[in-house]
Amino acid sequence: MSTTTTETTTGVEHGDLRDSPSALKLGVFSFNASGGLNITTEPRKYHVSWEHTSAIARQAEKMGLEFVLPVAKWRGYGGETDFYGESYETLTWAAGIAAQTSRITVGATVHVPVIHPTFVAKAGATVDHISGGRLALNVVMGWYPKEIGQFGLTPADHDIRYEHGDEWVTLLKRLWTEDEPFDVDGRWTSAWSALSKPKPVRRPLLINAGTSPAGVDFTARHCDISLASRNALEGSDTFVGDIRTTAREKYGRDLRVINVAHVICADTEKEARRRRELLAENGDKVAADNFMDFLGIGSQSYEETLKLYRDYFYTSGAALPLIGTPEQVAEQMVAASRAGFDGLALGFFDYLDEMTAFEETVMPLLREAGIHT
Ligand SMILES: Cc1cc2nc3c(=O)[nH]c(=O)nc-3n(C[C@H](O)[C@H](O)[C@H](O)COP(=O)(O)O)c2cc1C
Repeated sequence: MSTTTTETTTGVEHGDLRDSPSALKLGVFSFNASGGLNITTEPRKYHVSWEHTSAIARQAEKMGLEFVLPVAKWRGYGGETDFYGESYETLTWAAGIAAQTSRITVGATVHVPVIHPTFVAKAGATVDHISGGRLALNVVMGWYPKEIGQFGLTPADHDIRYEHGDEWVTLLKRLWTEDEPFDVDGRWTSAWSALSKPKPVRRPLLINAGTSPAGVDFTARHCDISLASRNALEGSDTFVGDIRTTAREKYGRDLRVINVAHVICADTEKEARRRRELLAENGDKVAADNFMDFLGIGSQSYEETLKLYRDYFYTSGAALPLIGTPEQVAEQMVAASRAGFDGLALGFFDYLDEMTAFEETVMPLLREAGIHT
């Protein structure tokens, strides 16, 4: 098994998502798919190629972050940008990233209805072996009909999707731990004489991003990390507390909560705000409206609300916006930590360049504030 701590360019020993001593674990999110977290036509260097996305992952490791996490997407959202139209499949992508890194947690994301746990048990163990025990698996239920339709399927009703997920992940965990063949005759997932070897180096971290009652219950019961996408810190302490309490009281389990955040950092606040405005002015309305429709925001909302959401999707993927000078960005990250989040999954408009600047200007402030080693 390879080591999970390594020396980075900061000269400090860092752990991965599981072992890091940092109060606020940090990762990079959504950089295996076109558009990243911004539905905008504003030009940038960020694009989906193996050279570019693997360079982003290596940079994340070099700057001492704890994890990288891709999105699983099978179809884009149209418009001028066809947001998410190009994406790498995440288990195969994670295998490549695992081979090019040595310390950081490598995420992969799987859609429950389109892939059988027997396949994921073996593919996951393979990535886990390549990485020396660094795989984290985000288990998503699949809600976008155009994606699921490509597999000849229709998404089931919301809560049924989580029932399927419950059977699916129970089988996955058994395949990762049991040494004798077993049968499962489930309502949604079955397996005859199921056995998977080799086992992972250690049980990969499991993640889910559901915040509905069924989603929270699934996460509390099965997962190690709850992924949220809250665009403001107000009320987040209650949100985090409730999820953790459900996990502890109902299932006797400890859960970490990580929020998605989007960074726009510049020397002056004015410049950072101007960059944000450019993303909004060049927003891809068609792609954003399609995305919102499928999230169920479009059909239920007034035009004012739609405008607000469009703006969020153009500028920050509707995640927590971290905008301003390095000092202001660091302050907001300290506030996120105080609100109870265990980590942030970061998006950047132009990942590689902006991460390099973030390493130089914001990371030292996070170390000074004591929230990141
Ligand atoms: C941070 C984050 C990452 C997500 N990643 C994916 C993904 O890669 N693929 C996908 O189909 N859905 C993804 N989702 C959607 C969720 O899996 C889920 O459908 C959504 O959070 C709504 O769940 P709920 O109805 O239980 O609250 C993501 C959601 C969040 C908040």
